[in-house]
Amino acid sequence: MKILFVCLGNICRSPLAEELFRTHIREAGLEDMFHIDSCGTGNWHSGQLPDVRTRRNAEKNGITLTHRARQIRETDFETFDHLFVMDKMNLSDVNGLRPDFSHKVSMITEYSTSFKGRQVPDPYTGDEDDFENVFRMLNQVCSELAKYFHSKYRTA
Ligand code: 4NP
Repeated sequence: MKILFVCLGNICRSPLAEELFRTHIREAGLEDMFHIDSCGTGNWHSGQLPDVRTRRNAEKNGITLTHRARQIRETDFETFDHLFVMDKMNLSDVNGLRPDFSHKVSMITEYSTSFKGRQVPDPYTGDEDDFENVFRMLNQVCSELAKYFHSKYRTA
């Protein structure tokens, strides 16, 4: 199962979602069955580590981020089984690139009971609290997403 997390810059939300989802999938004992990656719709930060504020906050919560930013590629739509986006702008940007693959694209909150229908706010212009709130939201959402895939595999 190949999962791609997508945000705008690939330096705040999606590299964190990638690592949190990997952590929850590992805890469920399913790591070997997954290929997990992240990217951005924009290319401004390609090659960079996540934003220092995202890394500091993640580190404080026991998560180390080593992902290097990259922009989404047209081939990602064939390579990955699911693309999970953070907000409605990501959703329309991603679906605009390959409208024929919209069945693979969902909001990251789609399988969350606590945050369904919500967008993950962009913390880039925010303060420390905004980064902490995004961490908590993504940790909960990624935990629920891992549970969704766990139950899907159990019954498969
Ligand atoms: P992200 O946050 O989409 O969560 O990685 C952003 C990072 C950079 C920019 C915007 C959002 N930017 O405009 O450079």
